Amino acid sequence: MPETRGQFSSKLGFILAAAGSAVGLGNVVAFPVMASKNGGAAFLIIYLFFIAFICYPVMMAEIAMGRRTNRNPVGAFSQLSSDHRGWRLAGKLAIITPFMIAVFYTVITVWLVVYMKEIATGGLEMLSSESAFGDIVARPTLFVYLLGLLCVIFCILLGGVKNGIERLARVLMPTLAVMLVSLTLFVLTLDNAVAGIRYYLVPDFSRMDLSVVNGALSQAFFSLSLGMGILITYGSYFSRGDNIPQSTRMVAIADTSIAFFAGLLILPAIFAFDPNTNTDDLSTSSVGLIFSFLPQIFLSMQAAVGYVGASIVAFVFFSLVFFAALTSLVSIIEIPISCWIDELKLSRKRAVLFQAVLLTLFAIPAIVSLGISDFFTNFTSYGGVTKSFFDLVSDVFYETILPFVGFTVCIFCAYRWKMSGLSSELTRGDSDYAGSRLEAYVNFSLSSVIPLVLLLVFISTVIQIYFP
Ligand code: PHE
Repeated sequence: MPETRGQFSSKLGFILAAAGSAVGLGNVVAFPVMASKNGGAAFLIIYLFFIAFICYPVMMAEIAMGRRTNRNPVGAFSQLSSDHRGWRLAGKLAIITPFMIAVFYTVITVWLVVYMKEIATGGLEMLSSESAFGDIVARPTLFVYLLGLLCVIFCILLGGVKNGIERLARVLMPTLAVMLVSLTLFVLTLDNAVAGIRYYLVPDFSRMDLSVVNGALSQAFFSLSLGMGILITYGSYFSRGDNIPQSTRMVAIADTSIAFFAGLLILPAIFAFDPNTNTDDLSTSSVGLIFSFLPQIFLSMQAAVGYVGASIVAFVFFSLVFFAALTSLVSIIEIPISCWIDELKLSRKRAVLFQAVLLTLFAIPAIVSLGISDFFTNFTSYGGVTKSFFDLVSDVFYETILPFVGFTVCIFCAYRWKMSGLSSELTRGDSDYAGSRLEAYVNFSLSSVIPLVLLLVFISTVIQIYFP
């Protein structure tokens, strides 16, 4: 007997799971630093503008495609295009992209686990030394952590949509919010914390230029998990009668609020560490910041709360980042799994096992790319720099391809599925949508401005990374 397809138990279940996917390293680390480097509240205003006017319509379009077809991205593109070969290819791109992002996100999550273990066993001071990160990513014991993490993730995914993904989000998302608020309140009691808030929230429009605007849009797009096939797949698990425009708004608000709060935590912590910090010197790379810089900041708190106290704060922070990463990782690994279930007609169990083998095969070269294997460490070179296998995957799939997938979604909805199809799906569960101003805006923007902007972002990223 064929298995019935998974479904979220309710609208809240969908919102929590989609927010679990959206809230990730991008929110808790990259956003705060990007905002403070690029004009504080001025950056925030542009970011909010992009969330509302560019990302929100694309988000609804992705969810609607999934819900209409009840399929994964390949299935959704092919069903809505009556099996058109070219569009099927676009669907495949929306499977390969999350597949490869999962590879490198898994490696980062493994590092997070190692950091948590080191902090819990008294190693905060060691982690704050300059060579710590380089040493840790070259340790062969990483494989043990990798296997452990993969077992946990695939057990969750074996549980399916309701009992696996949704249940995880129901537990971890509220926990994450409580941890974030408690840590923020603690950090705000430190000396000089106010300087960080000032830096974060006072608008400075003189910093605005095209690259900042480009960065804000890429960050907004990435943060909402757009262009990764995730929302198409989650849409396919979303009940027919539920309201897409409203639920999408809730996810966007939750995601943006967590990013905003993370700024109220990270910047005061940085300024308490060094009141003369120049945020221009901070790396926007999440990896550099989390693993090299933040341990020093936590260690400096020992003056106020002692070594054990500082270690507890650091541990809570790393757990928070780990929870954010875990829910994102689970969401992204589900995409190929749903494709194996729908297209290869595998049972969930077999699909999960198949994906576990594939992911392990790709994660191994990625994890040995930072020193363990010379071949994968100096894998290739472009843009004038030698790149590891890990860098290659991150540059191509994480940094570059998302706006392009977003572009294909817009063009597909506007010119192949047609706006009438999209509108009828969005009207299901929201009878006010038809004829609303929102509908008029979505129809206009998805067929013109938004794909154009996404194409420009894609081209400019390609130039920046590969032909600097
Ligand atoms: N929105 C996620 C983030 O901010 C992006 C992401 C989702 C990355 C799923 C990987 C997997 O980090």
